[in-house]
Amino acid sequence: MSKLQAPRGTFDVLPDDADAREAVEREARRVLEAAGYRRVETPTFEATELFARGVGEATDIVRKEMFTFEDQGGRSLTLRPEGTAPVCRAYVEHGMHKHAQPVRLWYLSSFYRHEAPQAGRYRQFWQVGAEAIGSDDPAVDAETILLLADLLDALNTHGIRLRISSLGTPETRAAYREELQAYLRAHEERLPREVAERIDLNPLRAFDAAGIEDLMADAPKLLDRLDADDAAHFAEVRRLLDGAGVHYDVDPTLVRGLDYYTRTVFEFESSELGAQSGVGGGGRYDRLVEMIGGPDTPGCGWAAGVERILLAADRPPVAPPPVDLYVAFVRPGDRATAFALAGEARRAGLGAQLELAGRSLKGQLKQADRVGARFVAILGEEGTELRDMESGDQRAVDAGRVVREVIRGREL
Ligand code: HAM
Repeated sequence: MSKLQAPRGTFDVLPDDADAREAVEREARRVLEAAGYRRVETPTFEATELFARGVGEATDIVRKEMFTFEDQGGRSLTLRPEGTAPVCRAYVEHGMHKHAQPVRLWYLSSFYRHEAPQAGRYRQFWQVGAEAIGSDDPAVDAETILLLADLLDALNTHGIRLRISSLGTPETRAAYREELQAYLRAHEERLPREVAERIDLNPLRAFDAAGIEDLMADAPKLLDRLDADDAAHFAEVRRLLDGAGVHYDVDPTLVRGLDYYTRTVFEFESSELGAQSGVGGGGRYDRLVEMIGGPDTPGCGWAAGVERILLAADRPPVAPPPVDLYVAFVRPGDRATAFALAGEARRAGLGAQLELAGRSLKGQLKQADRVGARFVAILGEEGTELRDMESGDQRAVDAGRVVREVIRGREL
């Protein structure tokens, strides 16, 4: 039989990884709840139509990477590749447009994409995300960006750079795309082959190509084609970020992999990461709620990859849970007393472990030392003894007083 392993692109979260992941959750809760966000959890799978929305330019990478399956009733379901569409679905389904707007929601959940695995890119990964639905105020865009900046800062991530841009409306974008395509065709002889071949499919790629920087510096930019409202919105987002001291680069070539963005888009990347440098990103999605069958409702938010945050951050030292009391016994007849004592200690708030491997007394004391136990209660023929592992002192104690003695001793 072949050895069973976790599927390609997935990983186990082992106890030594758990502390750092919990720190992400704790800081996310602190930063987001201070700004009025409340936690939401949606199902791991959804109806496929939620993600395959038929609209979309050729850029929607997520749709091509979905884990889709049929249930026993022949319905097509998909493991969520991202959290924004599910949160918007929940907003519509639960009539949240009737609540005070914007409704602010955050999540920390697992997501699934059938991508080629590499460092920082997995098929099951975790995102912490925030969505503010129901306001088109540019202060919402600026606030969500500031919150992610604060979270990454609180988690000591290194080498962070923020890029922002505005995509305007899908109509502006479509007109711009044609203009850019015409520009590229007019200069086709100067384009590298892979760029020339993708003029129809992905003309924006030309901005990332090496060797044609001069040509692209003169190319039309989407930011210069925004209509007056969109341009004013973007200017206000920038003014608020400037006022709050958030550093960013305006990057008119910033494209995001999802199809629902309008107006502001942004991405935080870290120089600590390799090819997959995106730590978190997001933007405004003013048409998404309507696209999935809800009322015309603007929205804005972001998601950041938990694994990528941890790759870009200092790892806190791993501290195993403290063991205040180790309960040792040798005679099988003392087993029930030892078991009850460990339970009593835990109910009193102590960290307590019971001998579970049938070790000799010497072996048990060694094990108590290994787990860093502060005290060991030794249940023996002559009664109960309490050993202070710090000083090495050992003395007889009344069995009923062990927990109280440990609490007292711990405080000394
Ligand atoms: P996204 O850029 O596709 O946006 O993903 C956000 C973050 O999730 C990325 O920056 C990255 O850190 C992490 N991530 C994405 N794919 C993987 C992967 N295969 N392995 C590990 N980490 C990954 C969204 O998902 C949007 N829903 C963000 C958003 C929220 N926009 C508006 N609201």
